Amino acid sequence: MPTLDNYKTFLKAHPSYAATSRLDDLRADDYGRLDRAGQIYLDYTGGGIYAESQVRQHQQLLLKGIYGNPHSTNPASHAATAAVENTREYVLRYFHASPDEYDVIFTANASGGLKLVGESYPFRPDDHYLLTFDNHNSVNGIREFAHARGSEVTYIPVALPDMRVVERQLEDAWDKALPGHNNLFAYPAQSNFSSVQHPLEWIERAHARGWDVLLDAAAFAPSNRLDLSVCKPDFVPLSFYKIFGYPTGVGALIARREALAKLRRPWFAGGTITVASVQGDKYYLADGHTAFEDGTVDYLNIPAVEIGLRHIEAIGIEIIHERVSCLTGWMLEHLTAMRHATGVPLVRLYGPTAMQARGGAVTVNFYNTHGQAIDHRAIEEAANRSNISLRTGCFCNPGAGELAMGISRLELAVCFSQPLHEQRLSIDDFRTCIDGKSTGAVRISTGLVTNFNDVQGFLNFAQGLLG
Ligand SMILES: Cc1ncc(COP(=O)(O)O)c(C=O)c1O
Repeated sequence: MPTLDNYKTFLKAHPSYAATSRLDDLRADDYGRLDRAGQIYLDYTGGGIYAESQVRQHQQLLLKGIYGNPHSTNPASHAATAAVENTREYVLRYFHASPDEYDVIFTANASGGLKLVGESYPFRPDDHYLLTFDNHNSVNGIREFAHARGSEVTYIPVALPDMRVVERQLEDAWDKALPGHNNLFAYPAQSNFSSVQHPLEWIERAHARGWDVLLDAAAFAPSNRLDLSVCKPDFVPLSFYKIFGYPTGVGALIARREALAKLRRPWFAGGTITVASVQGDKYYLADGHTAFEDGTVDYLNIPAVEIGLRHIEAIGIEIIHERVSCLTGWMLEHLTAMRHATGVPLVRLYGPTAMQARGGAVTVNFYNTHGQAIDHRAIEEAANRSNISLRTGCFCNPGAGELAMGISRLELAVCFSQPLHEQRLSIDDFRTCIDGKSTGAVRISTGLVTNFNDVQGFLNFAQGLLG
């Protein structure tokens, strides 16, 4: 159990934590179920936890209002349209994005926004899609649109142990953009694998060399300020449940209007057109976000996004950031210091050991007294038994995972070229294929209402794994 002495030492090492104490009050008032359940929740990169007041406010809104399908002018439709448009404006304001410069497209999640960019970006032969190894699969997936249209795809590796990009390689790749062609560069503001925060300064440097920039903010936005009056990526996908837990099913693609005008949708759907004709075999897309929101938007849940954003603003994202930094710093210091009696370190960390330019996730593999890796699934099962929610696997980030686990291009090629694996490959087949190497890791991620007891509780659990 966490002791007072531990807490005092922690406060001494991280004095700025004291200024975040309002989050302890908030947790007691608005997230009491976490402590009532006795659960240690440490998967904030997977999904945020919602406050009870968010649900109540949303429920009140629904119980009082009469909302109908927004594609009409009747009063119920008008109420839904107003709620959706107010939320759209609020999203822009939250991210300090000028409405003259940026537009917001509501999607189901970050992946929905990424797919819109992938399918609509005007890739042609000699165009280029450049991305870091460190990317979520929904960013990797865009390469299939690029391949299909004959564009070049280039991956930039990250380097162990910190898992940051060697900038010289990036500079060289930026210089390969052909003038007059469409060049798209995609990277995460924060890695969902290593928690590395890749530099936001890349945006302007890439722009200056002729690249459009897609900044995946899904893992960054929940505990960092993303100020779109300062940095100006072209496309910013995110999921709101990662920021404030509720509602699920709503995300956004925040896009620069100029970049949005460059996209070419592959189809039209209800709600996206001004006119579509059957006999005339022609359609006219609407302007801006309307052209990208297929069918009926989630008009009952979208207003809960404004409630969630107001909730974060009332706390202050800087306070959340500070708390996450202090707690993650403490976890890093203590977890990486744990040793078996044999002197073997308990964990191997994938990512930076210091808090500079990193977020609140700590990704590791555990080792036994003999220095053999313990399967991440066994760690997850042990954590489950201790009522600790964490995440294991490769977190849909295979590029970072392959580098971290030392899985080579050659091994993958041998595996994927086996006739048996031409069409199908299960995760167990894959494990056998790469000779029993680890295919995943354990990710512990802090967030909005993580407290010292959560982190210390996890450290106690880790200590219990020492031989
Ligand atoms: C960095 C990053 N990008 C994209 C996504 C995809 O988000 P979603 O599953 O909500 O579409 C995630 C989800 O974990 C993520 O961490």
